[in-house]
Amino acid sequence: MSLLFQPIQFGSLKLTNKIVIAPMCQYSATEQGEVSYWHEQQWANYALSGAGLCIVEATAVQPEGRISYADLGLWNDTQRDQIKALLTKIKTLSPMPFAVQLAHAGRKASTDKPWAGRGQFAPEHAQGWQTVSASDIPFNPDDHAPHALTQDEIQQVIQDFAESAKRAVDAGFNLIELHAAHGYLLHQFMSPLSNLRSDEYGGSFENRIRLTLEVFQAMKNAVPEGYPIGVRISATDWMEGQDSWDVASSVGLSKALEQLGAVYIHVSSGGLHINQNIHLEANYQVPFAHAVKQAVNIPVIAVGLITEAMQAEGILHYEQADAIGLARAMLYDPRWPWHAAAELGENIQIAPQYLRCQPHGLKALFTAF
Ligand SMILES: Cc1cc2nc3c(=O)[nH]c(=O)nc-3n(C[C@H](O)[C@H](O)[C@H](O)COP(=O)(O)O)c2cc1C
Repeated sequence: MSLLFQPIQFGSLKLTNKIVIAPMCQYSATEQGEVSYWHEQQWANYALSGAGLCIVEATAVQPEGRISYADLGLWNDTQRDQIKALLTKIKTLSPMPFAVQLAHAGRKASTDKPWAGRGQFAPEHAQGWQTVSASDIPFNPDDHAPHALTQDEIQQVIQDFAESAKRAVDAGFNLIELHAAHGYLLHQFMSPLSNLRSDEYGGSFENRIRLTLEVFQAMKNAVPEGYPIGVRISATDWMEGQDSWDVASSVGLSKALEQLGAVYIHVSSGGLHINQNIHLEANYQVPFAHAVKQAVNIPVIAVGLITEAMQAEGILHYEQADAIGLARAMLYDPRWPWHAAAELGENIQIAPQYLRCQPHGLKALFTAF
């Protein structure tokens, strides 16, 4: 029996296997931050994939927290109602749980769609706005400087995360992932490279992680008792030799999040500094997941250039992580879990409408939901 196709529990949520579709921005929302026809087909595709969980793209808690003008949002009730209507339809396709990643892009906001390639828009541009951050240091030297959040504005960010969390529950998501990775707002507060504050949100490690912990706690207070919330972190800034966010910081943060009730830690890396020196290769972030796993008792998700079934199985076998996040591999091959089940000699539950496509010679591959 493979490990990948064993169930796993994220707090109160049970997944039928350990394949997690990692969040991927689609830059396809309306300019009001609402779901579009693209999301209908995309989420339906995910729902039929056979994965254990789908985490929907970074979804902004404030309009200024969108990466681009085409990002999804959950800062108002219309956005919630439209997502709810869509999720209600999607859940008629399969029992796969859906999570949403709640996010604020901070100084990396106000950009064009990536494929348009125009980078960040100035605040006066029709599709741009004034960005915010821990300090007034831009991500790219050419970017407009972000506004350093005041204490009152920080409180507003915390409240907006909490209100979006409540909307996520009401919309029908089964889990929330807090986005504290990839150089976005919470990471900007945590890294000494982007946070030069001298108040209680800057300076010491405890002060720099304060906002992430306060946001997590506020979200927890806003959702029903026992509703699962996980957290995605960047394990390192990849800025060795400089005072930066590193694996030891991530271990400390993960322990604090576990104490507050996080149901998993999803271990990614980078995104904070343009001079990051990433060593890209298969499994390149797995050692970070392993380091976090050794320090906490909640599940740890490994992600990053995991593309093969046996590779995923090996990570679980060597106890480097508890679940496997897949992003690009799921876009490239939306039936990746089916193919992994075939390769590992497993059975996978699929929609009954598709039962008849079971390949010759693999008579035990499919059962219906
Ligand atoms: C198109 C695209 C959009 C992404 N959007 C997000 C996002 O919204 N939130 C996030 O945390 N990571 C995002 N990522 C990063 C992925 O979740 C993942 O961590 C990364 O691609 C590495 O995993 P992979 O090698 O399996 O693709 C995105 C990646 C891609 C390719």
